[in-house]
Amino acid sequence: MAMQLTKEQQELLSGARGNALAKVMKTLVMYSETFGAQRMVKVTSAYGHLVTSFGLGVLTPVYDMLDELIAEGVTSAQPFSVDPRPLQKGVPANPAQKLFFKVMYSKQKPYEERLKKLGLMKENAFTCACYMQEVGNVPKKGDVLSWAESSAVVYANSVLGARCNRNSGIIDIFGSIVGFVPEFGLLTDEGRKATWVVEVKTTKKPEAQVLGSAIGMKVMEEVPYIKGLAEHIGNALDGDALSYLKDMGAATASNGAVGLYHVEGLTPEAVEQGAALIQENARVYVIDDAELERVRRSYPTIWKDAEAEPKLCFIGCPHLSLTQLTDWTEKIEGGLLAQKRKKVDIPTVVTAAPAVMDAFEKTPYAERLKKTGVVTLSICPLMYMNNPLCGKMPVVTNSNKLRTYTSARYHTDEEVLKLITKGGK
Ligand code: F3S
Repeated sequence: MAMQLTKEQQELLSGARGNALAKVMKTLVMYSETFGAQRMVKVTSAYGHLVTSFGLGVLTPVYDMLDELIAEGVTSAQPFSVDPRPLQKGVPANPAQKLFFKVMYSKQKPYEERLKKLGLMKENAFTCACYMQEVGNVPKKGDVLSWAESSAVVYANSVLGARCNRNSGIIDIFGSIVGFVPEFGLLTDEGRKATWVVEVKTTKKPEAQVLGSAIGMKVMEEVPYIKGLAEHIGNALDGDALSYLKDMGAATASNGAVGLYHVEGLTPEAVEQGAALIQENARVYVIDDAELERVRRSYPTIWKDAEAEPKLCFIGCPHLSLTQLTDWTEKIEGGLLAQKRKKVDIPTVVTAAPAVMDAFEKTPYAERLKKTGVVTLSICPLMYMNNPLCGKMPVVTNSNKLRTYTSARYHTDEEVLKLITKGGK
């Protein structure tokens, strides 16, 4: 069946509001048709979010397209946040890497200028964890979004109960510009039903990033209904549970392609609808200690020298919450104290949203963390790693997303702590 467009959408498509907007609309219509959407629905969130945050020299078509929009006076119907910047003062890098970054991200400044003209929500809105209270891009339950950042989409859908498909970059900002997105998949009640039941039967709280990895690799882009997890992380969406779900979700989204999960007794739709969310004939995946161990062992080490001493450690992909920043401060201090050391043994970068870092700076923890030698930044570690010079470095991380997309080696939080405080492997 052909797509039904409203009068406003038809006008946009016909060029009544300019050529640039007509092209945006045409792209969205083609995108809708690809996924069999029959109509487009209003974007209802207060803010958008753009995944493309890097001013790579080779993105000329994107810059040309933005220039065309700006020249016709087009701005986004909703202000938007953006994924983390690739670079920031204080990033550990040798002279060759610094030079490489400069060339690689040579268009960063002019790109950001364009984003400001288009409707960037505020100067410091560069983070993948835009849904943190401190950042302010927190969708309401039931809001329809036009986002693409996979870790943010899965969080918004699952933890906040908003509705968003796993769009691609640029489609996200196009939806924000015109204020419509195609209705299919996770925007529909049917598309939000679980086709998998995941039964967590571990003897202790599973590592969030390994559990998410196991679920993602099993269900891929389908929707899991997770049972047995609330026993480990509680029945309240408090700071710890939110941080856990953020990290678990990012791993489901990157190790697989999950855009929505439900946790029995915890996430909003599961609390409301319970088992009614599970489709008939849903498959079952049991995760016990042995299964987690199997998944963990399946990660390849792609370092040239598997025995190399780590040269850098990244904590905070996705960006950390304030709760996690204070937790890590205490853990690192404790680990160093136990080893009678003052500073971390491996250069360690902890990343969080600029607004979360600002809030952290106002607490006594910031000074304490600095004393341990840890560097706090708001970059995206993936953008740091994604070049031949940094890709060769033996980097360790507690992020399963970073492990998936780069040569960084994954370690659990506890292992990372031991590595950086020299508490043994
Ligand atoms: Fe965020 Fe970059 Fe990791 S966008 S989730 S810090 S890869």
